[in-house]
Amino acid sequence: MSLQQITGSIHEMVDGGLEYFKNPELKISWGGPFNGQEFRKKIFLNLLDNFSFKAVVETGTYRGTTTDFFLSTSRPVYTTESQYRYFGYALIRFLSKWKHIRLFRKDSRDFLRSLAARRSFPKKNVFFYLDAHWQEDLPLVEELDIIVSNWRNSVIMIDDFCVPDTNYGYDNYGEGRVLKLDYLNPVIIPNNIPLFFPSVGSEEETGEKRGCIVLGTENDTGSILDRIPTLRRYYI
Ligand SMILES: C[S@@+](CC[C@H](N)C(=O)[O-])C[C@H]1O[C@@H](n2cnc3c(N)ncnc32)[C@H](O)[C@@H]1O
Repeated sequence: MSLQQITGSIHEMVDGGLEYFKNPELKISWGGPFNGQEFRKKIFLNLLDNFSFKAVVETGTYRGTTTDFFLSTSRPVYTTESQYRYFGYALIRFLSKWKHIRLFRKDSRDFLRSLAARRSFPKKNVFFYLDAHWQEDLPLVEELDIIVSNWRNSVIMIDDFCVPDTNYGYDNYGEGRVLKLDYLNPVIIPNNIPLFFPSVGSEEETGEKRGCIVLGTENDTGSILDRIPTLRRYYI
């Protein structure tokens, strides 16, 4: 990294940090945690009741709206953001909660690989929230591959995902880059990953009504996910 790039990154981080004080309304982006979606919150709370999660891992911190909700569950939270500006914002936002949160300024794949390599980080009973998608570079398949190769008895929720036969919103970045099952097949099929969607349609959801998919890290996790009333299993 050149001196100019380092200075630029520091400026961005400082600007992001100042934004926290200048625009308090930015604390609640996209209508609140999980895009302001109450049913999604219920899914997450059901998951907490049925799994003994030792940590929550988020990719794509942005302004920390969902991160803050994760912190309210009293689990240690690990979150990463690639943009210096949002990282700076989150750094200031969560300064007083430093004992409970680990904030990274890393690409999501490097971040997950570094957690996988860290001996002290649990390799079972982890909740992953994958939300680092809104740019040209779509890290999702690689993120999923790293998780299923390194963790067991863990759960992955992907935001902005197409829910078949419903009107939930989802991300479409062009051919071969649509957040639909086809896109994840290279990881899902060989690993026999159990798949779940919200048990209700978008008309019973609030907020931005974005779709999601919930996956277990291996086939056995599916029997626990089967107990969650807010989820329905999906077979391909
Ligand atoms: C949709 S926003 C996340 C919203 C946040 N999770 C919430 O619920 O409020 C996506 C964020 O992911 C970040 N991002 C995109 N690609 C990334 C990557 N490869 N690694 C880490 N962060 C990334 C973007 O800069 C952006 O801040």
